[in-house]
Amino acid sequence: MRISDLDGAGAGTAGASADGRPANPLLRCSLEDLRKRTSMKWRAYPPDVLPLWVAEMDVPVAEPVADAVREALALGDTGYPAGTVYADALDDFAARRWGWRIPADRTAIVPDVMLGIVEVLRLVTDPGDAVVVNSPVYTPFYQFVSHMDRRVIEAPLTAEGRLDHATLDTAFAQATSSGRRAAFLLCSPHNPTGTVHTAEELAGAAALANAHGVRVVADEIHAPVVLPGATHVPFLTVPGAERAFSLLSASKAWNLAGLKAALAVAGPEAAVDLATMPEEVSHGPSHVGILAHAAALRHATGWLDSLLDGLDENRRLLSRLLEEHLPEVRYRPQEGTILSWLDCRALGLGDDPAAVFLERGRVALNSGPSFGTGGAGHVRLNLAASPEVLEEAVRRMASAA
Ligand SMILES: Cc1ncc(COP(=O)(O)O)c(C=O)c1O
Repeated sequence: MRISDLDGAGAGTAGASADGRPANPLLRCSLEDLRKRTSMKWRAYPPDVLPLWVAEMDVPVAEPVADAVREALALGDTGYPAGTVYADALDDFAARRWGWRIPADRTAIVPDVMLGIVEVLRLVTDPGDAVVVNSPVYTPFYQFVSHMDRRVIEAPLTAEGRLDHATLDTAFAQATSSGRRAAFLLCSPHNPTGTVHTAEELAGAAALANAHGVRVVADEIHAPVVLPGATHVPFLTVPGAERAFSLLSASKAWNLAGLKAALAVAGPEAAVDLATMPEEVSHGPSHVGILAHAAALRHATGWLDSLLDGLDENRRLLSRLLEEHLPEVRYRPQEGTILSWLDCRALGLGDDPAAVFLERGRVALNSGPSFGTGGAGHVRLNLAASPEVLEEAVRRMASAA
């Protein structure tokens, strides 16, 4: 579904195409300007390294978002957050995009997705309890879960990157074996494989979780970034998800990680748990961040659609570039997310090819083993860059292999 015509004023200003839709945002930033940025992607490595690692995008801020922030600054509206601005905007977006209504009284504002996950896990597990994850998976899942004194149990994806119900069943049994509470931290869409789980896969996981009394916490931060050919199914819309939670944010799809805010959403039977989340958690998000995220969800869907088209072109380009320069690398073009998961095992560069690409090729990718079981011999490449940067990255990888 394309919803660009619903965009508010401002969406079609700088860089607009003839039909009023903003131009592909991945074509708008010069490398020279990107290198002036002071965020993690651009400052973690020396300037001779081309960075395609952490999930920041090489895009300008969408005009409606910039307008909202400018307006807040002009008013001095830089205090504490209040009301349901974010929840209402997410409800509007989810209804248009996925036909999913989100009642504001089943949401809680949280500082960001990872801290929201921690707070929700605190509601449904105790120290020492297990949290099941589908490896290879977003590295901070391991870090945050361990940091809050819970145990990670891996239920690896299949070789094709799909949810494996038999493996989940075993992991849920292990997680609950001593009568303890347990949770399943689902990544949907999945980072790093870019898998977009189907309704059947999700309903199967929900049924298994219910059978074992495991509570599901779905990280849906990448949900707006689903590419042509796939459809995101919000976890809370599948049968059996009534006791589950979801975490959502505009931060990935609109590159707003520096404007902290996210929402936790409870299924109808989990609202009672969410209501016990301490009030002070809601003090964490940035008020200006909330205004920015709400503007993105309400008024920058045309920008998002242009981004999705650009990512779709980039995944085709990446396939061609790899075929030409690194034919041994296996790449299943991602269904969603800005992340490309590359199987480099045939190159014979060992468990951590990213280290070799960095040292010899001066290109920064994410290291496969950091994503847990199934990550060895792989790298994660951030596709949210210009075609020129992608070409240069693959050229550098090939020179290092
Ligand atoms: C799956 C997933 N969850 C959470 C995050 C981080 O979100 P936040 O900055 O809102 O904590 C990321 C960032 O890339 C992510 O990929």
